[in-house]
Amino acid sequence: MPENPAHALRNAAGKLADKASELLEPPIPGVPSPETPPIEEPTAARGPLPPKPDQAAPETRTPTGAETGAPVTAMAQQDAYLTTAQGVRLPDTDHSLKAGSRGPTLLQDHHLREKIMHFDHERIPERVVHARGSGAHGVFEGYGSASHLCRAAFLGKGVETPVFVRFSTVLGSRGSADTVRDTRGFATKFYTSEGTYDLVGNNMPVFFIQDGIKFPDVIHAGKPHPDREIPQAQSAHDSFWDFVSLHTEAQHHALWNMSDRGIPRSFRMMEGFGVHTFRLTGPDGSTSLVKFHWKPALGVHSLTWEEAQLLAGLDPDYHRRDLADAIEAGAYPQWELGVQVFPDTPEQMFEGIDLLDPTKLVPEELAPVQAIGRMTLTANPTNFFSETEQVAFHTGHLVPGIDATDDPLLQARNFSYLDTQLTRLGGPNFAQIPINRPHAAVNSLHRDGFHQDAVPGGVAPYKPNTLDGNNPFVAGADEGAYIEAPAPVEASVRERSAPASFDDHFSQARLFWRSMTPAEKEHIVLAYTFELGKCYEQVVKERQLRALANIDPVLCQQVATGLGLPAPEPTETLAATGPESSPALSQLGGTWPADGRMIGIVVDPDHGLDGVQAVRHEILAAGMVPLVIAPHGGMLEGDVAVQRTFGTGRSVEVDAVLLAGAPAPAPDAWAVRDSKAGAAGTTSVDPRVVLLLDEAHRHAKVVGAWGAGRDALAAAGLPTDDPGVVVGEDAQTVLGEVQQLLAQHRVWERFPASLGA
Ligand code: HEM
Repeated sequence: MPENPAHALRNAAGKLADKASELLEPPIPGVPSPETPPIEEPTAARGPLPPKPDQAAPETRTPTGAETGAPVTAMAQQDAYLTTAQGVRLPDTDHSLKAGSRGPTLLQDHHLREKIMHFDHERIPERVVHARGSGAHGVFEGYGSASHLCRAAFLGKGVETPVFVRFSTVLGSRGSADTVRDTRGFATKFYTSEGTYDLVGNNMPVFFIQDGIKFPDVIHAGKPHPDREIPQAQSAHDSFWDFVSLHTEAQHHALWNMSDRGIPRSFRMMEGFGVHTFRLTGPDGSTSLVKFHWKPALGVHSLTWEEAQLLAGLDPDYHRRDLADAIEAGAYPQWELGVQVFPDTPEQMFEGIDLLDPTKLVPEELAPVQAIGRMTLTANPTNFFSETEQVAFHTGHLVPGIDATDDPLLQARNFSYLDTQLTRLGGPNFAQIPINRPHAAVNSLHRDGFHQDAVPGGVAPYKPNTLDGNNPFVAGADEGAYIEAPAPVEASVRERSAPASFDDHFSQARLFWRSMTPAEKEHIVLAYTFELGKCYEQVVKERQLRALANIDPVLCQQVATGLGLPAPEPTETLAATGPESSPALSQLGGTWPADGRMIGIVVDPDHGLDGVQAVRHEILAAGMVPLVIAPHGGMLEGDVAVQRTFGTGRSVEVDAVLLAGAPAPAPDAWAVRDSKAGAAGTTSVDPRVVLLLDEAHRHAKVVGAWGAGRDALAAAGLPTDDPGVVVGEDAQTVLGEVQQLLAQHRVWERFPASLGA
């Protein structure tokens, strides 16, 4: 039996509590160096510092997959002394070689030449899509529950496989903000004993297009306009809505983007989907069709749209920081891998749904997700470029037992990834980059090319040969060969067309809308109104409203009202197949662990730090991260380190706020210094604390107060009997209740919804 994820989380929380109690001071994630740096420049020669404890690097493997037994730091920079790229020690790297201290630089300065040459070439092309991403190392453990369906060794019971995961946005450039409204990539590289398997998915189960030949079109439409190159990293512009309103198969995915799924709270709180249907082959040769799902142990949670917008300015690295901090704090993110299983019939249909149409999902109520393994992310990369930037995923990286289907989107992807990586990574040998090296033996007969790291022996890189003893030999199924499942191909004629079963573009969008709770529907209405409100062309808005009319009249009417346009009538008869709603599509209604959540603690150092140190320890022991917010920086009484001041902090960084005091306006609480302070002297409590509470309340966050903290609540005008406002005598009691409320992520009662279920 697979281990219950709740037990695993409790075990993890227990370990965290042990770890916390060992420490006098709770650690603050994000410390840059493994050692506290001295104020003066060190002069005694010493070797490079080790990586921080939360960091890992790719295992040291040869370019052809063999274990080396060397420590991972063997791949890093070595030696105590600065050298050239050739390992020659250098006496000076601050001055170029000149004819006299004020004379011209000499051409013979090989160090200057090499240093600048390398710097000039530090950049490589960013990914054409999914350029902005964050990665982590981890491990996948098979439950064995899929072993009868799939012969892949890594799915076997108790088999542990190292993984590297990269989460990403789709549209933005490498330096764009994390919290934009977009689909998120969720790509996993499994370094299995039978070769590398990549599951290259998204956080949404459907895609914009049914045929990969249209991928350039949808991406060109979503990317910034080619004339001014704006807007960056968002779909709120004319060309995106022009495309999706003309190309109605994109409506279902667009609706997911407009839902809260488009603005996740954290990478750790996203589902992942393989999107396409894949074909599995079992040990007996039988085949089945499956869809892959990643289910996060922390549940699926989102930001509000205002939080997402504020965070894009305040902390554009919000998701990247959240992932790295959580791993550093020991709150390891976990997902269960699951499959929906369908019979491999010649029609490749299930309950009227074409399994080869990537704009369709199969409701979980019709085909439950069966858990087959668990992934835990346990370490941050040591070097972003070497690992997260250079990792190369590909839907064609398959292992025996897992096969592609004829989904025309997947077919184009199988062509695309290698093609783009050839350019992005500068030649055909990118499988030899450390993060991409397989953990299985490689003998490919590929030779030469840019950046060849392997040193192959022999004289006969061809087959068959006698000069190298005919090595390498082809394998049979018993020797672990990858053998495509013998799926029948329909006798047909060549044509550029789509099957009739791809024609329905609206019924599943309608299913998704109907499956939302009232609060989720309100957010969707806001998102469409915002995005279309940003378009210039009236016809684009009108055409999109026509599409919304075919999804749901209430949705259409609400958005039309916001745009000041009439709501059109539907033009399609909605297909009456499938269930009316799929509760599994809603994010609300459950309770989940609060691991890695940020808890802001507002303190007033002038009137004592009532229970603050103890509450920090308890927050950490519960697997969450405390964030002390004070009028000024520095160390407070009892060694409480200030992490944010009223000037540098903002409510959107935290998931809940605790009030340990009611700090009076600080000396810098005036608008000319910090415009958040607004007009000076309007409240007894610092106006930035009042703003913080107002925002936290507006974003339906839990707020707790004890002692003088209750006065801060009163200053902000928050009633103590409001849902999600916790008032108590001491910090422990308040924290306990706050934690319970956090299990639902937000205080949903604060979003009074007018749109019925
Ligand atoms: C279900 C549909 C799709 C999903 C789930 C998907 C997912 C992803 C993900 C997660 C990445 C980022 C990989 C990373 O982190 O390095 C990615 C990159 C990319 N995708 Fe897709 N994609 C889809 C469709 C397509 C299609 C149809 C094409 C082209 C025909 C395509 C072309 C690319 C390219 C060129 C990259 C950049 C790869 C690189 O430079 O390494 N994708 N995709």
